[in-house]
Amino acid sequence: MSERRAAITALGTYVPERVLTNADLEKMVDTSDEWIRHRTGIETRHLVEPGTPTSDLATRAASEALRRRGISAAEIELIIVATVTPDMVFPATACFVQDKLGAKRAWGFDISAACSAFPYALTMGAQFVQSGAHRKVLVIGADVMSSIIDYTDRATCVLFGDGAGAVLLEPAEDGTGVLDFAHEMDGSGACYLHMPAGGSRQPATHESVEQRMHYVKQQGQHVFKYAVRKFADASEHILHKNGLTGRDVDLFVAHQANIRIIEAAQHRMGLPDAKVVKNIRDYGNTTAATIPLALATALDQKRLKAGDLVLLAAVGAGFTVGTVLVRWSGIAWD
Ligand SMILES: CC(C)(COP(=O)(O)OP(=O)(O)OC[C@H]1O[C@@H](n2cnc3c(N)ncnc32)[C@H](O)[C@@H]1OP(=O)(O)O)[C@@H](O)C(=O)NCCC(=O)NCCS
Repeated sequence: MSERRAAITALGTYVPERVLTNADLEKMVDTSDEWIRHRTGIETRHLVEPGTPTSDLATRAASEALRRRGISAAEIELIIVATVTPDMVFPATACFVQDKLGAKRAWGFDISAACSAFPYALTMGAQFVQSGAHRKVLVIGADVMSSIIDYTDRATCVLFGDGAGAVLLEPAEDGTGVLDFAHEMDGSGACYLHMPAGGSRQPATHESVEQRMHYVKQQGQHVFKYAVRKFADASEHILHKNGLTGRDVDLFVAHQANIRIIEAAQHRMGLPDAKVVKNIRDYGNTTAATIPLALATALDQKRLKAGDLVLLAAVGAGFTVGTVLVRWSGIAWD
């Protein structure tokens, strides 16, 4: 019998029906399908109807995970929501999800780590399971990026989409589950990717709205260079820490921010295409939702089976960096 770990025992995802294509964006800003595909790998993204809160997407993804596991929301003990687009500044989006799900016994909270939020939240949830404090924990990555994107700014509006993914964590003693994590933070990078207004530093004013300060601002090239370096460095670091190399990895599930960032890390680790999940073409960057959505893509493509070694990696605003190693458990998938 090996030590108790937190195993992913169910997965659920949700993306809204409405699709925004590169052709649609060509009509909105000075861009082209060719530029977007070549520079980012994105062809479509899914967007909510305006006014749809993140908790709606999160609840749908969580409900699907519970249905697949065949358990009721009343059994959930803890809900962690990773998001950069909470329903409100407070209360936490986890509160809205708890109410909508009817998870009457659960407590919970949100995690704000932008694009690295899912690995951070997974790590956090795993601690509660490994310690024996909880037996059923929902970790949800959900973002309505369309609520904070400026659709007149071609440098950002082509990149992002909306979506959600939820995993259920339960104790396992069969060697599967979360094996290790290695996270980093470099707050000196905050100036390169942020939303300037709406917080305590710059509360909402007529001026802040007129100056479009309630939208994502990004210096793309700087973020790109940092992400290319950090994806590979952080992935190699967690592998080395565990006496592993790229050859031991069965599936690399990277945050989907730009196809060129994913492929740079892939090449540095020497991973063939068969070991790397890429679905940015269909969804764009859904921030906290990209990793669970990519896990779903891998399951749809039958590229993920019990016992596989999975490396999750993300780099995001902050800067934040998250890597998690998981020994995959067999889960129901339909
Ligand atoms: C945003 C990103 C795709 C831009 O690609 P890039 O190759 O770095 O391009 P640059 O920013 O250097 O811009 C090159 C040119 O394209 C232009 N451009 C920017 N967006 C454009 C668009 N949507 N359509 C057409 N041209 C565009 C720029 O204005 C610039 O023009 P110039 O040369 O006349 O000044 C890329 O930097 C990126 O992916 N960054 C990281 C994003 C990210 O991961 N964010 C989330 C955090 S995980």
